[in-house]
Amino acid sequence: MERLDKILASQGVGSRKECAALIRRGEVAVNGAAARRPEQKADPEHDAIAVRGAPLCYRRTVTLMMNKPGGVLSATRDPHGVTVLDLLPPEQRARGLFPAGRLDRDTEGLLLLTNDGALAHRMLAPKSHVWKRYLARVDGPLSAQDAQAFAAGLALEGMVCLPASLEILEPGPQALAVAAVREGQFHQVKRMFLARGRRVLSLRRIAVGGLSLDPSLPPGAARPLTPEELELIWAPSSPFPQA
Ligand code: URA
Repeated sequence: MERLDKILASQGVGSRKECAALIRRGEVAVNGAAARRPEQKADPEHDAIAVRGAPLCYRRTVTLMMNKPGGVLSATRDPHGVTVLDLLPPEQRARGLFPAGRLDRDTEGLLLLTNDGALAHRMLAPKSHVWKRYLARVDGPLSAQDAQAFAAGLALEGMVCLPASLEILEPGPQALAVAAVREGQFHQVKRMFLARGRRVLSLRRIAVGGLSLDPSLPPGAARPLTPEELELIWAPSSPFPQA
């Protein structure tokens, strides 16, 4: 049994405060009876909870979308600084979440946090080929030759990359481009640009599969994915028309 406001907040209905207000206004029912106290206990797996008449479809696992700011580590602990978990509200922090994949400390943007091990495994498995898109500002111009080299599969130290796409938004002198890759090797995007003689000045992940970063999510904020958004991770997302 758990507090009703906590159950609702864990399912992304709102912040704990917003959920408490919703309950006090009588907009939440448990087994058909209006609940008025946020501290009322319910069993989320067996009680029928409804918010404004719509049944709450309770999920024990949760996956959050975070707009990761620069300067925080995407790990569960960092003895020297702040991790993405430190940015979460207490009701989410207590749920055993971990980052599904890593972004460098200075990389910003879409990070998924989950307590669903199977989802993380599937997302990170090389054969799942979930495309990740990054907006990159680099320290020089970019040209069609760079895009061709990305598409051909760049050779990095110790590996040859799978074909990747490079869409140049501003060709120079500090070019802006969207790089799409379906692997997740250490510093991969930065190393790919370096292989073309360009240093990445800023990197922001804007999409994972068919799921884009919610533009209304401020840096450092996170919210649960809706069931539809969860499915979008697996939606076809290749930047190449034929793939
Ligand atoms: N590639 C990088 O180089 N850094 C990231 O954070 C993610 C992808």
